[in-house]
Amino acid sequence: MLYSEKVMDHFQNPRNVGKMEDADGIGEVGNAVCGDIMKMYIKVKDGIITDVKFNTFGCGSAIATSSMATEMIKGKPIEEALQLSNKAVAEALDGLPPVKMHCSVLAEEAVRAAVKDYYDKHGIAYDPAQFCAGDCAHCHDHGEKE
Ligand code: FES
Repeated sequence: MLYSEKVMDHFQNPRNVGKMEDADGIGEVGNAVCGDIMKMYIKVKDGIITDVKFNTFGCGSAIATSSMATEMIKGKPIEEALQLSNKAVAEALDGLPPVKMHCSVLAEEAVRAAVKDYYDKHGIAYDPAQFCAGDCAHCHDHGEKE
């Protein structure tokens, strides 16, 4: 079996799917590998992520990882959500096939983008480096980061 039971479960019954009208932060990211896109909405109160929703035009693995990611950050302090890695999400799903690991990046990036949007909208100061994975063409082209 290529996919774990947990992946199948989250793919078939994704948690927290939908839109959020009164989101405090919205992150929209695209996957450079496949062109799929993901939108993540967060609601924040007193530094805690009280609600999360996501929408994706991604594949089954993207749906499963986003679903798991929303479960992992809901009710958590915002700083903890920022620490969420795609590897941790994949592990929580009992693994993803290697060719599908790039799909899990979409969820991680969407969470980070939503947090950044929340910080921006609420005038909260942050270190921009926090949101740099160091792998974009911009940084490489300019030799700013390895
Ligand atoms: Fe695009 Fe999985 S193939 S997110």
